[in-house]
Amino acid sequence: MDQHISIAIDGPAAAGKSTVAKRVAKALGFTYIDTGAMYRAVTYAVIKAGKNPTKVEDAESILPSLQIELKEDGSIFCNNEDVTQIIRTPMISGNVSYIAAMKPVRLALIQMQRKMAEHQCVVMDGRDIGSYVLPHAQVKIFQLASAEIRAQRRYLEDQEKGIPATYEEVLAEVKKRDYIDSHRDFDPLMAAEDAVKLDTSQMNVEEVVQAILTIVKEKTGLEAK
Ligand code: CDP
Repeated sequence: MDQHISIAIDGPAAAGKSTVAKRVAKALGFTYIDTGAMYRAVTYAVIKAGKNPTKVEDAESILPSLQIELKEDGSIFCNNEDVTQIIRTPMISGNVSYIAAMKPVRLALIQMQRKMAEHQCVVMDGRDIGSYVLPHAQVKIFQLASAEIRAQRRYLEDQEKGIPATYEEVLAEVKKRDYIDSHRDFDPLMAAEDAVKLDTSQMNVEEVVQAILTIVKEKTGLEAK
């Protein structure tokens, strides 16, 4: 049996998972793994290669040479290029759900994700971590909030990062991704049966972090350092 503890944080687009997951990982001394960034990096690599991100053969053709690194400082490298900023742009957000619906892409990334969780304690966020990637994770959280609240949070985040998009555009993109992510045939977005559902609509980041740390303590006995 795996000796390492895994915490899975899943939920729909822009639910605030990565902000919270990063803080929870820091508090516990675990490694944070942003699986969404990995799907975004593949999307970037496909587009950069001049290929069509809605065509499975095109995406599949870049997989054999694909290298993704999640660095300790939070930066993301794809084929030795720092893609940390560019993978958050509307061009990538608008295409990533097509790429993430492709079974060969998912199988390649899931294999990497499982390897990452094998030898270290992780907080992994995504759509399918508790339901498929790490079904034996000791703690599973499914974060919820209305599409409007999520879009508002992402809009403010984009403003801070200087990413140009109106609230209406962000809301439309969030809804479109949710639809594609939850309706794909293979490995769709869904809460694992044993996940704790957390409606964060009325909670701030600190409250969500504390709520998750309380659940972690109940399930594993571990406390923040
Ligand atoms: O941060 P945000 O919620 O906007 O999205 P993300 O976590 O960066 O994920 C981007 C996209 O990758 C999602 O909309 C999904 O299409 C896909 N994804 C997935 O299918 N499975 C995961 N485990 C993580 C992300």
